[in-house]
Amino acid sequence: MKQYYILVVLLCFLSCSKNEQNEKKAVSENEEKYEHIINKLLSKMTLEEKIGQTNLRGTSSRAKTLSEELKQQVRAGKVGALLNVMKIEFVDELQKIAVEESPNKIPLIFARDVIHGFKTMFPIPLGIAASWDEDIARTSSRIAAIESSSVGIRWTFAPMLDIARDSRWGRIAESPGEDPYLASVLGKAYVEGFQGDSLNDPTSIAACAKHYIGYGAAIGGRDYNTTIISKPLMHNVYLPPFESALNAEVATVMTAFNEINGVPATGNKFLLKDVLRGKLKFDGFVVSDWESTIEMIAHGYAKNEKHVAELAANAGLDMEMTSKAYENNLKALIEEGKVSEDQLNEFVKNILRIKLRLGLFEMPYRDTKNEATFYKKSHLEKAKNAAVKSTVMLKNTGVLPLAKTSKVALIGPMVDAPLDQMGTWTFDGEKEHTLTPLDAFKTANINYNFIPGLTHSRATSKKEFKKAVAIATASDVIVCVVGEEAILSGEAHSRASIDLPGAQEDLIKELAKTDKPIVLVIMAGRPITITNIIDDVDSVLMTWHPGTMGGEALQEILFGLSEPQGRLPVSWPKTAGQLPYYYNHKNTGRPANKDDFVAIYDIPVGAWQSSLGNDSHYLDAGYTPHFPFGYGLGYTNFRYDKVEVSKDTITFNEDIIIKATITNTGIRAGKEVVQLYVQDVVGSITRPVRELKGFQHINFEPGETKEVRFKLSSKSLEFTNHKSVKAAEEGDFNIWVGPHSASGLKHSFYLKN
Ligand code: BGC
Repeated sequence: MKQYYILVVLLCFLSCSKNEQNEKKAVSENEEKYEHIINKLLSKMTLEEKIGQTNLRGTSSRAKTLSEELKQQVRAGKVGALLNVMKIEFVDELQKIAVEESPNKIPLIFARDVIHGFKTMFPIPLGIAASWDEDIARTSSRIAAIESSSVGIRWTFAPMLDIARDSRWGRIAESPGEDPYLASVLGKAYVEGFQGDSLNDPTSIAACAKHYIGYGAAIGGRDYNTTIISKPLMHNVYLPPFESALNAEVATVMTAFNEINGVPATGNKFLLKDVLRGKLKFDGFVVSDWESTIEMIAHGYAKNEKHVAELAANAGLDMEMTSKAYENNLKALIEEGKVSEDQLNEFVKNILRIKLRLGLFEMPYRDTKNEATFYKKSHLEKAKNAAVKSTVMLKNTGVLPLAKTSKVALIGPMVDAPLDQMGTWTFDGEKEHTLTPLDAFKTANINYNFIPGLTHSRATSKKEFKKAVAIATASDVIVCVVGEEAILSGEAHSRASIDLPGAQEDLIKELAKTDKPIVLVIMAGRPITITNIIDDVDSVLMTWHPGTMGGEALQEILFGLSEPQGRLPVSWPKTAGQLPYYYNHKNTGRPANKDDFVAIYDIPVGAWQSSLGNDSHYLDAGYTPHFPFGYGLGYTNFRYDKVEVSKDTITFNEDIIIKATITNTGIRAGKEVVQLYVQDVVGSITRPVRELKGFQHINFEPGETKEVRFKLSSKSLEFTNHKSVKAAEEGDFNIWVGPHSASGLKHSFYLKN
């Protein structure tokens, strides 16, 4: 019997690897075929038609008619891709012109920002990052692809993979958070979801890793701002998520708006040619961001539009979004010998390669079988699951979960804000389909009274406070849903203060006077500083902007039908004055610690002026965040008992096994996100105090003890040094296994040459 079993397993293994080999062979045969088609097409194309392929024309999704000028351009082969054509009839008509009337019958690609859902909106990307769950990232992007491809979209400008260390930056909402490891895990999953098993499946859409690169390092969190990024920082922090997306075969990459060390990303030859093409072997195409080409003039890097085209083309930018520097100037530049035709040919090859991989030459039109997929029950169910898994509980004195019989005062401007709940980058999701907390309370037959208290998050009129207090007084518990409207985060929506806007803090203070327990629910695009109100409330749930199903997810969490399962993907500051703040910072020569900490009011009046005794902290905000990266509570508690390593010393190319024993000490089943952090104690350049190297979602029954194992390879200890060499270095390493970045059981090992 045993032998038979082994034989079956062996046969299965052989046939699986045979299947894999066959698949690989088919892919490489296809690729060979594609290169042949590309070269044949190129040999027939005029210079104008080649330039046409590099042209991503922007349109307005609200356009009621198709302009004759646009049709004519498509007919002449002068457009490669189109952005924001949202009427199905227009998509079909333009594609028909391209494949039937244009000189070489090259299909168009239709693009749209499908960022965290198309119709069914999932939590904002920072929320999805809070799930720490690659399945959520993959599922959300798969559903977004299924829904959007049904209207002809085959290219999205996502995932955004900018590491964001500053919550003032509006686009943190769209980011995977502050950690390169977590962002890499999510980046890969997003690409897999959008692009499906194969790009040429009609429900697959080409993904776009953006914004290459460093956009999140904008000084002061002001959008579009200057970035200064050393090579080690680039390689160790900003690049890894992009590398991960490239490993997942992301089809396209978008350049960023920012300059890096003086050179705008869109004209950055080193980053586009040496790194992206040379080192990372990218063979898809690179598109500029919206007018980021001509913005090189404002940056003070290009003299005029023609100079822009020269710089961008020689840097290796394949396609230009919306502006017309290439369209107006490439021909002359080639004729003058300032840009080579070979360079243009490369661009066209890269673009056609993706069009071929998308299957557009065989099937240029949308798949009509794939209609009516919007808001499918299964999509909504998955969006709810994502919202549950993204919700981070920051405080709970025990008031949550609520008893089903509780009488609830439901108060706050975000209780019934169907548009805002969907978050930034909601172009296609319709508020009529949103389930707000109010809707969910109604459906679930909760005993509640509702008053918004404030009309919207920025409102300052306290007219309704009295009524809110009256409702609160007559209830058992207050659920106060506050936050930011969607428009307060996202592109070009940075904030200097990240407190609750308007009179929301005042509302909470008024409610606190009733002495009723308060569950504070925050819906926002970024961490919100709550230092002024945290002591007034009993529980805090951060739901981010949770999307279409956010209300139902919240209702389930409040009443204990689901557990809040999120963990912070960014450090949560006490005050915006601490920003940028990130857990994986360097130690400094005078690392902050509690023994040396001197608070502002502890300094004697007239004190002798000395720096001694103080270290790297703020007198008024200390040196820790309000809540650390990785933090999040559930409805049960865990104890970390011990951590062990398989060896005290490992050599290069060896793995180390780390084992931790963890117990659910509560009476409810629950999930823990067990996190592994590593510190390389001494390096040829200084190393962060900790870096996330692994995490696992582990379910526990009440009282259950489990051993959780991590395998850490010496490869994962590699980093890029100041000479741009990537290697691990001999020496001591500390490790922590714990529930977040500021705690954990510690051990150490030695890496030996
Ligand atoms: C944003 C990109 C976006 C593009 C197209 C730009 O303003 O920076 O992220 O994909 O617009 O809408």
